[in-house]
Amino acid sequence: MQTTLILPAVDKAPEALPSPQPVTLRINRQEYRLELAPWTTLLDALREYSSLTGTKKGCDHGQCGACTVLVDGKRINACLTLAIMHEDHEITTIEGLADTQKGEDLHPLQQSFIDHDAFQCGYCTPGQLCSAVGLLSEGHAHTKEEVRELMSGNLCRCGAYPNIVEAIMAVMPTEPNH
Ligand code: FES
Ligand code: FES
Repeated sequence: MQTTLILPAVDKAPEALPSPQPVTLRINRQEYRLELAPWTTLLDALREYSSLTGTKKGCDHGQCGACTVLVDGKRINACLTLAIMHEDHEITTIEGLADTQKGEDLHPLQQSFIDHDAFQCGYCTPGQLCSAVGLLSEGHAHTKEEVRELMSGNLCRCGAYPNIVEAIMAVMPTEPNH
């Protein structure tokens, strides 16, 4: 027997979607004035609206770590947060990791990744580097095992893990950072 589904009548058309609104983000020590829909992720704000394509989109679901950036010095997945939530924060992407005002061409970790051959295709590398900077300032990892554990949110399809760990260990402060 066939049943008929009776749906309630729609008496009102849905309201228009909210229009883009001005959002000011401070990225890599510079101000970006953007017009963003409220649901724009920080990752899309960086890549699509600020021309900062160094931060990579892997899964877009918080599972691969390719989109890791630093917000007020803490590492986060940019695909899991909305740009509009970070107007008062200092955002650092791979493009701003080296402090050129301090005369750095590369951040010491970037140099260490090169020295230790810590990447192959390089797609995961910006996220690995931002995550490693966050890990070092957290100060909880002192051994290779701890580095592996605390970097486990950053996947590398090329399997460059051993050299990534070596590169991080090479710049680990000798005095633990508590
Ligand atoms: S793109 Fe954000 S965690 Fe994969
Ligand atoms: S170097 Fe290719 S994904 Fe990590």
